[in-house]
Amino acid sequence: MSLRRVVGLALVVAAGAQQQPNFVHSFTPQAAGPILPLSRIRGGIPRLGQAANNIVLGNDQQYTYVVQAVFSDNQPFNFVLDTGSSDLWVVSTDCNSPDCEAVPRFLSSLSKNFVRTSRRFLLQYLTGSVSGEMCYDTVSLGPYSISNQAFATVEQTMDLGLASTGTSGIAGLCFPASAAIPATVGPTLLQNLMSAFTPDNSFFAFHLGRASGFNDPNASFTIGSLDPKFAPDRTLIAYSPVVRNQLFDYWKIAFERITVNGVPFTLSNSRIIGATFPIAVLDTGTTLILGPTADVAAFYALLGSCARFDVASSTYLVRCTCAVLVSFVLGSPAREFFLHPADIAWAEGAQGGWCTGGIQANDGVNSGDWLLGDCFLRNVYCVHHYSEDAPMVGLLNLTDPVAAMDEFRAERGPDVDGGGKDSSDGSLIPLIADDGWDTATGYVKRWEHRPSGTAAGIFGAVAGGIGFILGGVGAISWRFWRGV
Ligand SMILES: *[C@@H]1O[C@H](CO)[C@@H](O)[C@H](O)[C@H]1NC(C)=O
Ligand SMILES: *[C@@H]1O[C@H](CO)[C@@H](O)[C@H](O)[C@H]1NC(C)=O
Repeated sequence: MSLRRVVGLALVVAAGAQQQPNFVHSFTPQAAGPILPLSRIRGGIPRLGQAANNIVLGNDQQYTYVVQAVFSDNQPFNFVLDTGSSDLWVVSTDCNSPDCEAVPRFLSSLSKNFVRTSRRFLLQYLTGSVSGEMCYDTVSLGPYSISNQAFATVEQTMDLGLASTGTSGIAGLCFPASAAIPATVGPTLLQNLMSAFTPDNSFFAFHLGRASGFNDPNASFTIGSLDPKFAPDRTLIAYSPVVRNQLFDYWKIAFERITVNGVPFTLSNSRIIGATFPIAVLDTGTTLILGPTADVAAFYALLGSCARFDVASSTYLVRCTCAVLVSFVLGSPAREFFLHPADIAWAEGAQGGWCTGGIQANDGVNSGDWLLGDCFLRNVYCVHHYSEDAPMVGLLNLTDPVAAMDEFRAERGPDVDGGGKDSSDGSLIPLIADDGWDTATGYVKRWEHRPSGTAAGIFGAVAGGIGFILGGVGAISWRFWRGV
């Protein structure tokens, strides 16, 4: 959904009185390793943009991943888990549009810890918006509970299509610099969650499942610990530094190239001012993979008879039987990640044997050159390590190209187009070997440069960071740490 919000730059927050509420943080992380449910449901908020060169997916073609968060221990709601935005907001009972009335709404009088600020909240997406008020309440995610979490109750929504998803809001886990709720009102959900962990464990990690519905055993969301099911060996996770402009704003990493059936092609130069390489933004809130028009056209040209551009919907389509093997070479040092062919020939909403292409052209992304949404993220176990000065993204390849091709062919039937390759015998073209897996140094990175473990070290790092961000609101971290 970053696409539609014109990525951070369009955020508008009405200024209000600068007052400090009286925080008492009592965050009590429990025993290591709880795995929170993360569900894939039909529908997307907000819908993708409508500008001429933007693809328009019907709501029934979109999917989002949702988590449950609970206000004041008694009001649970489903939220889109969004690594492409940084605010937490929920529709309130004051929102009377048909869209809001179709989903569970927050009733402030039920929340014993609820505090209003009377500061206005306005979040403007590319085509749509939400507005309401900045507030505080106790917010729990699984066993983690944060008192006085700043969030927004929303009284008005425009063009968000909440009704189709049943989700009551968005839980953003991107950087504070992209938040609409200012630091003077309070730390973001991400900052509060992360501040409970040592620097080494200051991360959240997830795997997006493929199954729809609320009980996918293959989905996983953890905070401060890895899920051993996906990362039994944590040394195999490849960490890359997050790319920053001046501030860290989105979960951005270097994007080196794409390969199609083993053939590499070079991406165009970055359009981001000052960037010397193409930049990929990781975003769970975006359904597909979006890239610059020229690169995406070049990509589909490599698929030959397997792909076509549908002018009516401005969408690239891929023949549903085409087993196309795509990999992305990402991060620094760069690693190769294979995509399941089902994420390239995307079956939801297929018509007449043509599937939606998992990669689409969009030049409206301005946080980076590419937006890697769920069609990419389903193929990795993803770790977002948060720190003020050296955040990192860890990726573990989960899609085995050979097994994925077999699975795809078994499901979709004979691939007469040979995945766009010249040969139609369905055999796999040898994969490139020079992707740096073996030779690159720094493959295993454990943040050795971080202070490791002493209470003073942790306090210094976290308090220093929070002080930096909040501009001297030190009492928060003191109270917080006394409560741990
Ligand atoms: C979970 O993953 C396994 C292994 O990839 C797969 O065989 C199984 O079908 C998946 N289950 C669901 C519900 O997607
Ligand atoms: C991930 O990459 C490593 C290194 O190339 C490889 O050994 C492993 O088999 C890959 N995992 C999968 C699931 O393909």
